[in-house]
Amino acid sequence: MFGELLPKLRNRQARIGAIGLGYVGLPLARAFHEAGFAVTGFDTDPEKPALLAAGRSYIMDVTDDEVAAMAASGRFEATGDFARLNEADAIAICVPTPLGADREPDLRFVEASARAVAATLRPAQLVVLESTTWPGTTEEVVKPILEAGGLRSGRDFFLAYAPERESPGSGERRIPRVVGADGPEALALARALYEAVSPAVHAVSSPAAAEAAKLTENVFRAVNIALVNELKGIYAAMDVDIWEVVEAAGTKPFGYMPFYPGPGWGGHCIPIDPFYLAWKARGVGLPSRFIELAGEINAEMPERVVARLAEALAPATLAGSRILLVGVAYKKNIDDTRESPALRLWELLADRGAEVAYLDPHVPELPSTRARPALAGIPSIDRSPDTFAGFDAAIAVTDHDAVDWEALAAAVPLVVDTRNVYDDRPRPARIVKA
Ligand SMILES: NC(=O)c1ccc[n+]([C@@H]2O[C@H](COP(=O)([O-])OP(=O)(O)OC[C@H]3O[C@@H](n4cnc5c(N)ncnc54)[C@H](O)[C@@H]3O)[C@@H](O)[C@H]2O)c1
Repeated sequence: MFGELLPKLRNRQARIGAIGLGYVGLPLARAFHEAGFAVTGFDTDPEKPALLAAGRSYIMDVTDDEVAAMAASGRFEATGDFARLNEADAIAICVPTPLGADREPDLRFVEASARAVAATLRPAQLVVLESTTWPGTTEEVVKPILEAGGLRSGRDFFLAYAPERESPGSGERRIPRVVGADGPEALALARALYEAVSPAVHAVSSPAAAEAAKLTENVFRAVNIALVNELKGIYAAMDVDIWEVVEAAGTKPFGYMPFYPGPGWGGHCIPIDPFYLAWKARGVGLPSRFIELAGEINAEMPERVVARLAEALAPATLAGSRILLVGVAYKKNIDDTRESPALRLWELLADRGAEVAYLDPHVPELPSTRARPALAGIPSIDRSPDTFAGFDAAIAVTDHDAVDWEALAAAVPLVVDTRNVYDDRPRPARIVKA
Protein backbone atom coordinates (compact mmCIF):
# COMPACT_ATOMS: atom_id res chain seq x y z
CA MET A 1 0.00 0.00 0.00
CA PHE A 2 2.73 2.34 1.09
CA GLY A 3 4.93 1.50 -1.91
CA GLU A 4 2.02 2.28 -4.21
CA LEU A 5 1.12 5.66 -2.73
CA LEU A 6 4.51 7.24 -2.04
CA PRO A 7 5.63 7.59 -5.69
CA LYS A 8 2.20 8.93 -6.64
CA LEU A 9 2.60 11.71 -4.07
CA ARG A 10 6.19 12.42 -5.04
CA ASN A 11 5.37 12.52 -8.76
CA ARG A 12 2.20 14.52 -8.09
CA GLN A 13 0.15 11.88 -9.82
CA ALA A 14 -2.09 11.51 -6.77
CA ARG A 15 -5.59 12.94 -6.50
CA ILE A 16 -6.07 15.07 -3.40
CA GLY A 17 -9.40 15.44 -1.64
CA ALA A 18 -9.98 18.51 0.53
CA ILE A 19 -12.93 18.31 2.93
CA GLY A 20 -14.23 21.74 3.98
CA LEU A 21 -13.61 24.47 1.40
CA GLY A 22 -13.43 27.45 3.77
CA TYR A 23 -10.67 29.85 4.76
CA VAL A 24 -8.26 26.92 5.12
CA GLY A 25 -9.53 24.29 2.68
CA LEU A 26 -9.88 26.48 -0.42
CA PRO A 27 -6.35 27.97 -0.26
CA LEU A 28 -5.08 24.43 0.42
CA ALA A 29 -6.91 23.10 -2.64
CA ARG A 30 -5.35 25.93 -4.64
CA ALA A 31 -1.89 25.04 -3.32
CA PHE A 32 -2.21 21.35 -4.27
CA HIS A 33 -3.59 22.32 -7.65
CA GLU A 34 -0.71 24.74 -8.23
CA ALA A 35 1.72 21.96 -7.29
CA GLY A 36 0.30 19.89 -10.16
CA PHE A 37 -2.04 17.52 -8.33
CA ALA A 38 -5.60 16.76 -9.37
CA VAL A 39 -7.85 18.05 -6.59
CA THR A 40 -11.43 17.35 -5.56
CA GLY A 41 -12.96 19.61 -2.94
CA PHE A 42 -15.85 18.47 -0.76
CA ASP A 43 -18.24 20.68 1.16
CA THR A 44 -21.60 20.19 2.81
CA ASP A 45 -22.59 23.72 1.83
CA PRO A 46 -24.10 23.28 -1.67
CA GLU A 47 -23.41 26.89 -2.62
CA LYS A 48 -19.64 26.51 -2.52
CA PRO A 49 -19.16 23.87 -5.27
CA ALA A 50 -21.62 25.83 -7.42
CA LEU A 51 -19.73 29.11 -6.97
CA LEU A 52 -16.36 27.46 -7.63
CA ALA A 53 -17.66 25.78 -10.77
CA ALA A 54 -18.78 29.24 -11.96
CA GLY A 55 -15.25 30.58 -11.36
CA ARG A 56 -16.23 32.60 -8.30
CA SER A 57 -14.34 32.78 -5.05
CA TYR A 58 -15.91 33.55 -1.67
CA ILE A 59 -12.58 33.79 0.17
CA MET A 60 -10.73 37.10 -0.01
CA ASP A 61 -7.28 35.50 -0.29
CA VAL A 62 -8.31 33.48 -3.36
CA THR A 63 -9.21 35.43 -6.50
CA ASP A 64 -12.00 34.72 -8.98
CA ASP A 65 -9.33 34.39 -11.68
CA GLU A 66 -7.54 31.71 -9.72
CA VAL A 67 -10.76 29.77 -9.19
CA ALA A 68 -11.70 30.12 -12.85
CA ALA A 69 -8.26 28.89 -13.91
CA MET A 70 -8.52 25.93 -11.53
CA ALA A 71 -11.97 25.02 -12.84
CA ALA A 72 -10.80 25.35 -16.47
CA SER A 73 -7.70 23.22 -15.92
CA GLY A 74 -9.67 19.98 -15.70
CA ARG A 75 -7.71 19.15 -12.54
CA PHE A 76 -10.07 20.74 -10.02
CA GLU A 77 -13.63 20.06 -9.11
CA ALA A 78 -15.75 20.73 -6.04
CA THR A 79 -18.66 18.57 -5.02
CA GLY A 80 -21.10 17.68 -2.28
CA ASP A 81 -20.99 14.04 -3.30
CA PHE A 82 -18.95 12.46 -0.53
CA ALA A 83 -19.12 9.00 -2.13
CA ARG A 84 -16.42 10.34 -4.43
CA LEU A 85 -13.96 10.52 -1.52
CA ASN A 86 -12.72 7.09 -2.56
CA GLU A 87 -11.30 8.65 -5.76
CA ALA A 88 -8.79 10.59 -3.66
CA ASP A 89 -5.40 9.14 -2.78
CA ALA A 90 -4.85 11.66 0.00
CA ILE A 91 -7.57 13.47 1.93
CA ALA A 92 -7.11 16.61 4.03
CA ILE A 93 -9.87 17.41 6.53
CA CYS A 94 -10.24 21.19 7.04
CA VAL A 95 -13.59 21.56 8.78
CA PRO A 96 -14.47 23.91 11.66
CA THR A 97 -13.65 23.08 15.27
CA PRO A 98 -15.81 25.49 17.28
CA LEU A 99 -16.59 25.56 21.00
CA GLY A 100 -19.84 24.43 22.58
CA ALA A 101 -21.94 26.49 24.99
CA ASP A 102 -19.62 25.74 27.94
CA ARG A 103 -16.43 26.33 25.97
CA GLU A 104 -16.01 22.59 25.41
CA PRO A 105 -14.66 21.25 22.09
CA ASP A 106 -17.31 20.64 19.47
CA LEU A 107 -15.91 17.94 17.19
CA ARG A 108 -19.18 17.40 15.31
CA PHE A 109 -17.71 18.46 11.96
CA VAL A 110 -14.52 16.46 12.37
CA GLU A 111 -16.50 13.36 13.31
CA ALA A 112 -18.91 13.81 10.41
CA SER A 113 -15.96 14.16 8.02
CA ALA A 114 -14.29 11.07 9.44
CA ARG A 115 -17.53 9.13 9.00
CA ALA A 116 -17.79 10.34 5.40
CA VAL A 117 -14.21 9.20 4.73
CA ALA A 118 -14.86 5.88 6.51
CA ALA A 119 -17.88 5.19 4.32
CA THR A 120 -15.71 4.86 1.21
CA LEU A 121 -12.28 4.21 2.76
CA ARG A 122 -10.12 1.94 0.66
CA PRO A 123 -6.58 0.61 1.00
CA ALA A 124 -3.69 2.95 0.10
CA GLN A 125 -5.43 6.17 1.11
CA LEU A 126 -3.73 8.79 3.27
CA VAL A 127 -6.06 10.75 5.59
CA VAL A 128 -4.78 13.93 7.21
CA LEU A 129 -6.63 16.02 9.77
CA GLU A 130 -5.77 19.74 9.55
CA SER A 131 -8.43 21.22 11.84
CA THR A 132 -7.10 22.66 15.09
CA THR A 133 -7.95 20.39 18.00
CA TRP A 134 -6.84 18.91 21.35
CA PRO A 135 -3.83 16.56 21.51
CA GLY A 136 -5.08 13.04 20.94
CA THR A 137 -7.99 13.77 18.59
CA THR A 138 -6.48 12.11 15.51
CA GLU A 139 -5.74 8.85 17.27
CA GLU A 140 -8.56 8.79 19.82
CA VAL A 141 -11.46 10.16 17.74
CA VAL A 142 -10.67 9.97 14.02
CA LYS A 143 -8.79 6.66 13.94
CA PRO A 144 -11.54 4.51 15.56
CA ILE A 145 -14.11 5.95 13.16
CA LEU A 146 -11.90 5.11 10.17
CA GLU A 147 -11.08 1.62 11.45
CA ALA A 148 -14.69 0.70 12.22
CA GLY A 149 -15.10 -0.92 8.77
CA GLY A 150 -12.17 -3.28 9.35
CA LEU A 151 -9.29 -1.51 7.56
CA ARG A 152 -6.26 -0.81 9.80
CA SER A 153 -4.29 2.44 10.09
CA GLY A 154 -0.64 1.87 9.16
CA ARG A 155 -1.42 -1.38 7.36
CA ASP A 156 -4.25 -0.62 4.92
CA PHE A 157 -4.64 3.14 5.06
CA PHE A 158 -2.49 5.89 6.59
CA LEU A 159 -3.36 8.59 9.09
CA ALA A 160 -1.65 11.86 10.02
CA TYR A 161 -2.20 15.27 11.54
CA ALA A 162 -0.83 18.44 9.90
CA PRO A 163 -1.99 21.66 11.56
CA GLU A 164 -3.05 24.43 9.24
CA ARG A 165 -1.02 27.63 9.39
CA GLU A 166 -3.06 29.84 7.11
CA SER A 167 -2.42 33.55 7.70
CA PRO A 168 -5.42 35.35 6.18
CA GLY A 169 -4.72 38.71 4.59
CA SER A 170 -0.95 38.34 4.76
CA GLY A 171 -0.50 37.02 1.23
CA GLU A 172 2.06 34.62 2.72
CA ARG A 173 1.93 31.24 1.01
CA ARG A 174 5.31 29.67 1.69
CA ILE A 175 4.78 28.60 5.27
CA PRO A 176 6.63 25.63 6.83
CA ARG A 177 4.38 22.81 7.99
CA VAL A 178 4.43 20.40 10.93
CA VAL A 179 3.31 16.79 10.55
CA GLY A 180 2.79 13.96 13.02
CA ALA A 181 1.55 10.55 11.94
CA ASP A 182 0.30 7.21 13.11
CA GLY A 183 3.40 5.19 12.21
CA PRO A 184 6.53 5.71 10.10
CA GLU A 185 4.92 4.97 6.74
CA ALA A 186 2.11 7.44 7.31
CA LEU A 187 4.74 9.99 8.32
CA ALA A 188 6.73 9.45 5.12
CA LEU A 189 3.56 9.86 3.07
CA ALA A 190 2.42 12.99 4.90
CA ARG A 191 5.89 14.44 4.53
CA ALA A 192 5.83 13.79 0.77
CA LEU A 193 2.39 15.37 0.50
CA TYR A 194 3.25 18.59 2.34
CA GLU A 195 6.71 18.94 0.81
CA ALA A 196 4.88 19.59 -2.44
CA VAL A 197 3.18 22.69 -1.04
CA SER A 198 5.47 24.11 1.64
CA PRO A 199 9.11 25.19 1.87
CA ALA A 200 9.84 22.90 4.83
CA VAL A 201 8.16 20.05 6.65
CA HIS A 202 8.96 19.46 10.30
CA ALA A 203 8.08 15.94 11.42
CA VAL A 204 7.21 15.13 15.02
CA SER A 205 6.86 11.75 16.72
CA SER A 206 3.06 11.57 16.92
CA PRO A 207 -0.15 13.25 15.79
CA ALA A 208 -0.64 14.41 19.40
CA ALA A 209 2.69 16.29 19.33
CA ALA A 210 1.62 18.05 16.12
CA GLU A 211 -1.79 18.86 17.63
CA ALA A 212 -0.03 20.26 20.71
CA ALA A 213 2.37 22.30 18.53
CA LYS A 214 -0.57 24.07 16.89
CA LEU A 215 -2.23 24.80 20.21
CA THR A 216 1.06 26.05 21.64
CA GLU A 217 1.33 28.58 18.80
CA ASN A 218 -2.18 29.84 19.47
CA VAL A 219 -1.89 29.86 23.27
CA PHE A 220 1.35 31.82 22.89
CA ARG A 221 -0.47 34.46 20.89
CA ALA A 222 -3.48 34.57 23.20
CA VAL A 223 -1.30 35.01 26.30
CA ASN A 224 0.94 37.66 24.77
CA ILE A 225 -2.00 39.64 23.42
CA ALA A 226 -3.51 39.55 26.92
CA LEU A 227 -0.21 40.66 28.44
CA VAL A 228 0.12 43.68 26.17
CA ASN A 229 -3.56 44.53 26.70
CA GLU A 230 -3.04 44.48 30.45
CA LEU A 231 0.12 46.57 30.16
CA LYS A 232 -1.80 49.08 28.04
CA GLY A 233 -4.16 49.80 30.95
CA ILE A 234 -1.35 50.00 33.51
CA TYR A 235 0.78 52.34 31.41
CA ALA A 236 -2.19 54.51 30.44
CA ALA A 237 -2.79 55.18 34.15
CA MET A 238 0.82 56.45 34.28
CA ASP A 239 0.38 58.54 31.14
CA VAL A 240 2.71 56.28 29.21
CA ASP A 241 1.70 55.23 25.70
CA ILE A 242 1.82 51.45 25.15
CA TRP A 243 2.48 51.88 21.42
CA GLU A 244 5.60 53.90 22.05
CA VAL A 245 6.71 51.33 24.62
CA VAL A 246 6.20 48.34 22.31
CA GLU A 247 8.07 50.07 19.50
CA ALA A 248 10.96 50.86 21.83
CA ALA A 249 11.08 47.36 23.33
CA GLY A 250 11.02 45.96 19.80
CA THR A 251 14.45 47.43 19.08
CA LYS A 252 15.95 44.71 21.28
CA PRO A 253 17.20 42.10 18.81
CA PHE A 254 16.82 39.12 21.16
CA GLY A 255 14.49 37.86 23.90
CA TYR A 256 11.54 40.02 22.88
CA MET A 257 8.83 39.81 20.26
CA PRO A 258 6.30 42.59 19.77
CA PHE A 259 2.59 42.01 20.28
CA TYR A 260 0.13 44.85 19.86
CA PRO A 261 -2.82 45.84 22.00
CA GLY A 262 -6.31 46.10 20.58
CA PRO A 263 -10.03 46.18 21.32
CA GLY A 264 -10.10 42.49 22.27
CA TRP A 265 -9.38 39.27 20.44
CA GLY A 266 -11.06 37.81 17.41
CA GLY A 267 -10.99 35.25 14.66
CA HIS A 268 -11.63 31.57 14.49
CA CYS A 269 -8.35 30.61 16.21
CA ILE A 270 -7.06 32.71 19.07
CA PRO A 271 -10.26 33.12 21.14
CA ILE A 272 -11.24 29.46 20.60
CA ASP A 273 -8.36 27.04 20.20
CA PRO A 274 -6.71 27.63 23.61
CA PHE A 275 -9.90 26.35 25.24
CA TYR A 276 -9.48 23.04 23.43
CA LEU A 277 -6.28 22.64 25.43
CA ALA A 278 -7.86 23.95 28.66
CA TRP A 279 -10.59 21.31 28.29
CA LYS A 280 -8.07 18.53 27.70
CA ALA A 281 -5.92 19.78 30.61
CA ARG A 282 -8.93 19.50 32.93
CA GLY A 283 -9.33 15.92 31.68
CA VAL A 284 -5.83 15.10 32.95
CA GLY A 285 -6.52 16.94 36.21
CA LEU A 286 -4.40 20.01 35.53
CA PRO A 287 -5.31 23.68 35.50
CA SER A 288 -4.39 25.93 32.56
CA ARG A 289 -4.21 29.23 34.38
CA PHE A 290 -2.47 31.20 31.64
CA ILE A 291 -5.18 30.27 29.16
CA GLU A 292 -8.01 31.17 31.52
CA LEU A 293 -6.39 34.47 32.51
CA ALA A 294 -5.68 35.40 28.88
CA GLY A 295 -9.33 34.69 28.12
CA GLU A 296 -10.48 36.87 30.97
CA ILE A 297 -8.27 39.84 30.07
CA ASN A 298 -8.87 39.73 26.32
CA ALA A 299 -12.60 39.26 26.70
CA GLU A 300 -12.93 42.33 28.91
CA MET A 301 -11.21 44.68 26.44
CA PRO A 302 -14.42 45.74 24.65
CA GLU A 303 -15.89 46.85 28.02
CA ARG A 304 -12.79 48.94 28.63
CA VAL A 305 -13.07 50.56 25.21
CA VAL A 306 -16.70 51.45 25.84
CA ALA A 307 -15.81 52.85 29.27
CA ARG A 308 -13.10 55.03 27.64
CA LEU A 309 -15.60 56.25 25.08
CA ALA A 310 -18.24 57.03 27.73
CA GLU A 311 -15.67 58.98 29.74
CA ALA A 312 -14.55 60.96 26.70
CA LEU A 313 -18.12 61.76 25.63
CA ALA A 314 -19.14 63.14 29.04
CA PRO A 315 -21.10 65.23 29.85
CA ALA A 316 -22.99 63.73 26.89
CA THR A 317 -24.06 60.15 27.46
CA LEU A 318 -23.86 57.06 25.31
CA ALA A 319 -27.64 56.88 25.40
CA GLY A 320 -28.84 58.63 22.28
CA SER A 321 -25.30 59.19 20.87
CA ARG A 322 -24.54 58.09 17.33
CA ILE A 323 -21.44 55.90 17.32
CA LEU A 324 -19.60 54.63 14.25
CA LEU A 325 -17.57 51.42 14.48
CA VAL A 326 -14.81 51.55 11.89
CA GLY A 327 -13.78 48.05 10.91
CA VAL A 328 -15.75 44.98 11.93
CA ALA A 329 -13.38 42.30 10.61
CA TYR A 330 -11.28 40.81 13.39
CA LYS A 331 -8.03 41.91 11.76
CA LYS A 332 -6.61 44.31 9.24
CA ASN A 333 -7.41 44.04 5.51
CA ILE A 334 -9.56 40.91 5.73
CA ASP A 335 -13.32 40.29 5.52
CA ASP A 336 -13.67 37.76 8.33
CA THR A 337 -15.87 38.86 11.27
CA ARG A 338 -15.78 35.62 13.22
CA GLU A 339 -15.53 36.36 16.97
CA SER A 340 -14.67 39.95 16.11
CA PRO A 341 -14.53 42.31 19.10
CA ALA A 342 -16.48 44.80 16.96
CA LEU A 343 -19.60 42.69 17.42
CA ARG A 344 -19.20 42.71 21.21
CA LEU A 345 -18.62 46.48 21.09
CA TRP A 346 -21.82 46.83 19.11
CA GLU A 347 -23.76 44.89 21.75
CA LEU A 348 -22.33 46.87 24.65
CA LEU A 349 -23.03 50.21 22.96
CA ALA A 350 -26.57 49.22 22.00
CA ASP A 351 -27.20 48.03 25.57
CA ARG A 352 -26.30 51.51 26.77
CA GLY A 353 -28.71 53.13 24.38
CA ALA A 354 -26.29 54.29 21.68
CA GLU A 355 -27.29 54.29 18.04
CA VAL A 356 -24.62 52.19 16.31
CA ALA A 357 -23.54 51.95 12.66
CA TYR A 358 -20.41 50.60 11.04
CA LEU A 359 -18.05 51.15 8.16
CA ASP A 360 -16.00 48.29 6.75
CA PRO A 361 -14.89 48.31 3.12
CA HIS A 362 -14.36 44.54 3.28
CA VAL A 363 -17.66 43.62 4.94
CA PRO A 364 -20.60 45.03 2.96
CA GLU A 365 -23.11 43.56 5.40
CA LEU A 366 -22.92 41.79 8.75
CA PRO A 367 -23.21 38.02 8.42
CA SER A 368 -25.65 35.88 10.28
CA THR A 369 -24.12 34.31 13.38
CA ARG A 370 -25.49 32.00 16.04
CA ALA A 371 -24.39 34.36 18.81
CA ARG A 372 -25.76 37.58 17.30
CA PRO A 373 -28.60 36.86 14.88
CA ALA A 374 -30.03 40.38 15.32
CA LEU A 375 -27.04 41.95 13.53
CA ALA A 376 -27.39 39.84 10.38
CA GLY A 377 -27.81 41.82 7.18
CA ILE A 378 -26.99 45.27 8.59
CA PRO A 379 -25.09 47.09 5.82
CA SER A 380 -21.89 49.09 6.14
CA ILE A 381 -22.34 52.82 5.70
CA ASP A 382 -20.95 54.28 2.53
CA ARG A 383 -17.29 55.13 2.29
CA SER A 384 -17.86 58.75 1.24
CA PRO A 385 -16.71 61.39 3.75
CA ASP A 386 -20.23 62.93 3.81
CA THR A 387 -21.58 59.88 5.56
CA PHE A 388 -19.19 60.43 8.49
CA ALA A 389 -20.97 63.62 9.42
CA GLY A 390 -23.64 63.23 12.06
CA PHE A 391 -21.76 60.77 14.25
CA ASP A 392 -20.89 61.88 17.76
CA ALA A 393 -17.92 59.57 17.92
CA ALA A 394 -16.16 56.77 16.07
CA ILE A 395 -14.18 53.82 17.37
CA ALA A 396 -11.24 52.74 15.21
CA VAL A 397 -11.68 49.00 15.69
CA THR A 398 -9.79 47.47 12.74
CA ASP A 399 -6.91 49.30 11.05
CA HIS A 400 -7.85 48.50 7.44
CA ASP A 401 -5.74 50.30 4.82
CA ALA A 402 -8.84 50.94 2.70
CA VAL A 403 -10.45 53.29 5.25
CA ASP A 404 -9.98 57.01 4.68
CA TRP A 405 -8.82 57.70 8.22
CA GLU A 406 -8.07 61.34 7.46
CA ALA A 407 -11.59 62.01 6.20
CA LEU A 408 -12.94 60.31 9.30
CA ALA A 409 -10.74 62.43 11.55
CA ALA A 410 -11.90 65.59 9.80
CA ALA A 411 -15.60 64.76 10.10
CA VAL A 412 -16.11 63.09 13.49
CA PRO A 413 -15.63 65.15 16.66
CA LEU A 414 -14.20 62.30 18.75
CA VAL A 415 -12.30 59.16 17.76
CA VAL A 416 -11.40 56.35 20.15
CA ASP A 417 -8.34 54.77 18.59
CA THR A 418 -7.76 51.14 19.62
CA ARG A 419 -5.13 50.44 16.93
CA ASN A 420 -2.89 53.50 16.88
CA VAL A 421 -4.06 54.40 13.37
CA TYR A 422 -3.50 58.09 14.03
CA ASP A 423 0.12 57.70 15.08
CA ASP A 424 1.41 58.98 11.74
CA ARG A 425 -1.73 60.56 10.28
CA PRO A 426 -3.39 63.92 10.91
CA ARG A 427 -5.26 63.52 14.15
CA PRO A 428 -8.95 64.02 14.81
CA ALA A 429 -10.10 67.07 16.76
CA ARG A 430 -10.32 64.89 19.82
CA ILE A 431 -8.66 61.53 20.06
CA VAL A 432 -8.41 59.11 22.91
CA LYS A 433 -6.50 55.86 22.82
CA ALA A 434 -8.10 52.76 24.25
N1 LIG B 1 -9.11 30.48 9.21
C1 LIG B 1 -7.87 30.39 9.60
O1 LIG B 1 -7.09 31.31 9.41
C2 LIG B 1 -7.32 29.15 10.29
C3 LIG B 1 -5.96 29.10 10.58
C4 LIG B 1 -5.44 27.97 11.17
C5 LIG B 1 -6.28 26.90 11.49
N2 LIG B 1 -7.61 26.97 11.23
C6 LIG B 1 -8.42 25.80 11.55
O2 LIG B 1 -8.85 25.18 10.35
C7 LIG B 1 -10.14 24.60 10.53
C8 LIG B 1 -11.09 25.15 9.48
O3 LIG B 1 -11.26 26.54 9.66
P1 LIG B 1 -11.78 27.51 8.53
O4 LIG B 1 -11.42 28.88 8.99
O5 LIG B 1 -11.31 27.05 7.20
O6 LIG B 1 -13.36 27.27 8.64
P2 LIG B 1 -14.49 27.74 7.59
O7 LIG B 1 -15.73 27.82 8.38
O8 LIG B 1 -14.00 28.88 6.79
O9 LIG B 1 -14.59 26.52 6.58
C9 LIG B 1 -15.04 25.27 6.91
C10 LIG B 1 -15.78 24.68 5.73
O10 LIG B 1 -16.14 23.34 6.09
C11 LIG B 1 -17.44 23.09 5.59
N3 LIG B 1 -17.96 21.94 6.34
C12 LIG B 1 -18.51 21.91 7.57
N4 LIG B 1 -18.81 20.64 7.90
C13 LIG B 1 -18.44 19.87 6.86
C14 LIG B 1 -18.45 18.47 6.63
N5 LIG B 1 -18.92 17.63 7.52
N6 LIG B 1 -17.99 18.03 5.46
C15 LIG B 1 -17.51 18.90 4.54
N7 LIG B 1 -17.45 20.22 4.70
C16 LIG B 1 -17.89 20.70 5.86
C17 LIG B 1 -18.18 24.39 5.76
O11 LIG B 1 -19.29 24.47 4.91
C18 LIG B 1 -17.08 25.39 5.38
O12 LIG B 1 -17.07 25.63 3.98
C19 LIG B 1 -10.55 24.93 11.96
O13 LIG B 1 -10.20 23.86 12.80
C20 LIG B 1 -9.67 26.12 12.29
O14 LIG B 1 -9.43 26.22 13.67
C21 LIG B 1 -8.15 28.09 10.62
